[in-house]
Amino acid sequence: MHKESMHVLHVVGARPNFMKAAPVMRALDERQQVRQSLVHTGQHYDANMSDIFFTQLDIPAPDVNLEVGSGSHARQTAEIMSRLEPVLIERKPDIVLVYGDVNSTVAAALVCSKLLIQVGHVEAGLRSFDSSMPEEINRIVTDRLANLLFTPSEDGDENLQREGVAPEKIYRVGNVMIDSLIRLLPAAMQCVKNGLPERYALVTLHRPSNVDDRATLNSILDSLLKVSERLDVIFPVHPRTRQRIAEFGADGARIHLLDPLPYIEFLALQRRATVVITDSGGIQEETTYLGVPCLTLRSNTERPVTVTAGTNTLIGPDNGKLHSELAKILEGKAKSGTIPPLWDGHAGERIAEILCQLPVQRDC
Ligand code: UD1
Repeated sequence: MHKESMHVLHVVGARPNFMKAAPVMRALDERQQVRQSLVHTGQHYDANMSDIFFTQLDIPAPDVNLEVGSGSHARQTAEIMSRLEPVLIERKPDIVLVYGDVNSTVAAALVCSKLLIQVGHVEAGLRSFDSSMPEEINRIVTDRLANLLFTPSEDGDENLQREGVAPEKIYRVGNVMIDSLIRLLPAAMQCVKNGLPERYALVTLHRPSNVDDRATLNSILDSLLKVSERLDVIFPVHPRTRQRIAEFGADGARIHLLDPLPYIEFLALQRRATVVITDSGGIQEETTYLGVPCLTLRSNTERPVTVTAGTNTLIGPDNGKLHSELAKILEGKAKSGTIPPLWDGHAGERIAEILCQLPVQRDC
């Protein structure tokens, strides 16, 4: 007997979710018996943190925007939960897909679990083992609740199995964010920014542990000033960091501070960078794919494969290490890396295939 189509509802909220959801939505779109809807929580709401990503990644406009905006962790998470619940009750999806490790991810997973709606977590199993990171709490709770766990790399499977997740719930599909990178790299190659220096360090910073504490941020900014004596520093500033830099009055003249950049423009800058200095998670992966040296201003990473296989080096709190690693890169002695397995542009398709083969699901 013909059953109605499977309804997959995606929940996204913050900038790094968008490039992960895009390839999954695209792959499901090609399957005729799947109906999709998209909920944007509104965690990120500035045009250059959200709208421009929808345009460049060719994501359809959200069916619902919960418009939660900013707030403390508890308030933001609670707002997402209470605004999402009636949407899910009304729309009755067969499965909800959540992405990454932001507050929108964990909030949606919690609501679905209580409503007995299946949850698929895309980018499951990553662990920094640092519970002072809000994202680590989000990862652990989301993975504990999810019914389907789509991992990007082997370490993800190992972490989940160690935590007692049944192996049949774990699907190693590869890295969906790299799907978006591969698709839009040609556009990034065409994107020429006038007046770009020959060699430059591309910097991003937004982790609370780096930017919320005055002494830590000032020490990082001092270090960046020192870096800028050796090469130009291009620094697209996350709103959170911009606020802090303004508050601390630590703006440095030789550092080029920009507004947050669209996806393609940022990818273009990454590809041509001499070195990327960051505390982001996703950028550690993108630089590994691009073969660009990455110095990560953190003591740990939930993406260890970028260090063991890729071009990433953890700097930790020691600014001396930043300068010694930078010196190696400038002398042409950067570590070389390889691209991890399944970071091949087809992770979204693998997820679509798995969803369509679920035993209880419809004929797609
Ligand atoms: C969030 C994610 C983080 C991710 C980052 C990517 C959580 C816990 N953190 O951090 O994992 O790496 O997104 O960007 O979910 N703001 C704006 N405009 C916006 C959004 C935020 O001005 O569109 C400002 C607000 O002052 C806000 C602050 O940035 O208070 C922080 O935003 P928030 O969503 O709480 O976390 P992020 O630091 O962006």
